[in-house]
Amino acid sequence: MLGFRSVSAARQLGRVAGRSLGAVRSKHTVPELDYDYDELEPVISAKIMQLHHDKHHATYVAGLNAAEEKLLAAQAANDVAAQVALQPALRFNGGGHVNHTIFWKNLIGEKNGGGQLHACALKEAIEQTFGSLEKLSALVNAKTAAIQGSGWGWLTFDPAKGGLDVITTANQDMAAAVGHVPLLGVDAWEHAYYLDYNNVKAEYFKNIWRVVNWKDVAQRYDAAVAKHRAA
Ligand SMILES: [Fe+2]
Repeated sequence: MLGFRSVSAARQLGRVAGRSLGAVRSKHTVPELDYDYDELEPVISAKIMQLHHDKHHATYVAGLNAAEEKLLAAQAANDVAAQVALQPALRFNGGGHVNHTIFWKNLIGEKNGGGQLHACALKEAIEQTFGSLEKLSALVNAKTAAIQGSGWGWLTFDPAKGGLDVITTANQDMAAAVGHVPLLGVDAWEHAYYLDYNNVKAEYFKNIWRVVNWKDVAQRYDAAVAKHRAA
């Protein structure tokens, strides 16, 4: 919700900005990184981060904005077929935007605490569910490595069972689309590792755990549990 008092106010803002009403309503932007491009080196190079964030993520955002503009036009024209035809673009680009937004927050350099999971409710849940952090990472890596084509590996909170789970999603599909709360995402697209690791994908999966921002993951877990208990 943008909080406009009226449609006319929104239209006026659109005119002031020199853009259509649709452009105002559907504008998504690439979030700034909380760190420099070289923060994750040597696990992920500055070159990959720059391309991944500035080019790949930006392309999903541009695709999502374009699809939402077309959707608004199709809704205004009451064109149901056009609205349905836009769903794949919304799913792909919307997922790309949401997944990468989580991914950037999930990571932090080793010198700033990357890979360190200190005593907390999430650590207890991981040990209770998977045995240890090492067993969790091995499970995520095995499942993620088995994705055919592109996709994501996820540590999630599954409200249906009230606990942690490990799942994968194809392409840019979101964990939330299958009812899970995403806590930690591992981008398994080639654009996430190929410049640094070439075809040795397993090395990328092994190393990425060194730059996981467990503080961020733990906050997502605490929020998911609180929401689950309140429901
Ligand atoms: Fe990516």
